[in-house]
Amino acid sequence: MEPYRIKAVEPIPFPSEVERERALTKAGYNLFRVPASQVTIDLLTDSGTGSMSAAQWAAMMTGDEAYACSPSYERFESVLRDLSGFDEIMPVHQGRAAERVVFSTLLGPGDIVVSNTHFDTTRAHVEVTGSAAIDLPCPEAADLDSDYPFKGNIDLQALTGLLTGPDGHRVKAVVMTITNNGGGGQPVSLENLRRVRTVCNEHGLPFLLDASRFAENSWLVLQREQGHGFREPIEVARATFDLADIFWASLKKDGLANIGGVIGVRENAALAGRFRQEVILNEGFSTYGGLAGRDLDALAQGLTEVIDPRYLADRADTARWFAETLHKAGVPVVQPAGCHAVYVRAGEILPHIPAHQFPGHAWSCALYLEGGIRAVEFGTLLLGSGGGKAPHELVRLALPRRVYTRSHLEFVAESAINVGRLADDLTGYRIVGASPALRHFTAVLEPIPRDNAPPVADARASTAG
Ligand SMILES: Cc1ncc(COP(=O)(O)O)c(C=O)c1O
Repeated sequence: MEPYRIKAVEPIPFPSEVERERALTKAGYNLFRVPASQVTIDLLTDSGTGSMSAAQWAAMMTGDEAYACSPSYERFESVLRDLSGFDEIMPVHQGRAAERVVFSTLLGPGDIVVSNTHFDTTRAHVEVTGSAAIDLPCPEAADLDSDYPFKGNIDLQALTGLLTGPDGHRVKAVVMTITNNGGGGQPVSLENLRRVRTVCNEHGLPFLLDASRFAENSWLVLQREQGHGFREPIEVARATFDLADIFWASLKKDGLANIGGVIGVRENAALAGRFRQEVILNEGFSTYGGLAGRDLDALAQGLTEVIDPRYLADRADTARWFAETLHKAGVPVVQPAGCHAVYVRAGEILPHIPAHQFPGHAWSCALYLEGGIRAVEFGTLLLGSGGGKAPHELVRLALPRRVYTRSHLEFVAESAINVGRLADDLTGYRIVGASPALRHFTAVLEPIPRDNAPPVADARASTAG
């Protein structure tokens, strides 16, 4: 059960069917553009959407708003130093700000960065420097049914192959994203992280850690990986940070607060100085990094709460139960569930909608129309800006931290089951207007009329072929 009780509540909106239809049409069929006041259950993201504890709200009142070197920064720095063992800690306003600082400093045109999977903002910040972002997920990640425990791992053989091949000299860093948000929220094993460290040592490369969900990854390592002798998630977290040269995190996730990010640099004063310069140019003085003192205090407290085994056990159990509930009702999901989201295999529910007509998006829109539930497509709309096709057409049902109860999620499951019944009648979408980078955030779309869509039977036959 949840290891907390509810002290403050807020009503949730219940737009009518007509209001939902109107809101979706007005938003150009893009759920990012639908007003939150028209959403009943908001599973768009787990980022910055969590509830803070009474202790965090109290900590905010101790926030010190001095421009430089405030006590709030000292508390923030001290918690992160203890947790990570890194000596240079720089706050930034969110994860992508950290990515901008790190990649604009480290990369130039023609460089390559390799990752288990770059998250979309990470990829965008690599590519904007003229570099290439290469994903090398482990082969087990391709099988959405298998219960392989660490589908977030990088493919070590492919990594070594790339580094010893003709483009090896262009590789400037390896990024490990824990957990692997772009790859179904799957965890990365400590064994895999350790072997990446060895490969980085052999090739003189920096090991970069995107630690946005470090606590959730640590919990899943503790549950699923034998032989390390760890008893507490905080020990796994420390062992993970110990492997990296640089880390950053969007603290809107495991910081348990609504805004914030951080960059950590280990024993490299010159590099830290270059990052600090970028932080000051873009974010503000390097002891507040675009945040208020009260945000730093909320984060310092949140980072001590997130590593609590009872909290993490409940979070993982809720995700597992939600995935099981959907699976048993015939809604296919990526197995096994991680912590922060359940990923629905929309491409399998709507096999008559080809990838370029965005089946995941069609399923998300149908879920919104059915129950006022907002989710996000993780398929060709999000991953295929360059004209490519996503490996899987998924929809992410993200779980905000400490916000929704299981009865809210039961309602989501019922709505998802109802959408399944409508599947044959759903059609795809086409893009009417979109920006070249991160197009899913702002794209305007329109449904493809039934007459223009391929007949269900024909499309199924061609998909199967
Ligand atoms: C793994 C990962 N890295 C980076 C980011 C970007 O963080 P932010 O949204 O705080 O800019 C996210 C956001 O969801 C993420 O999941």
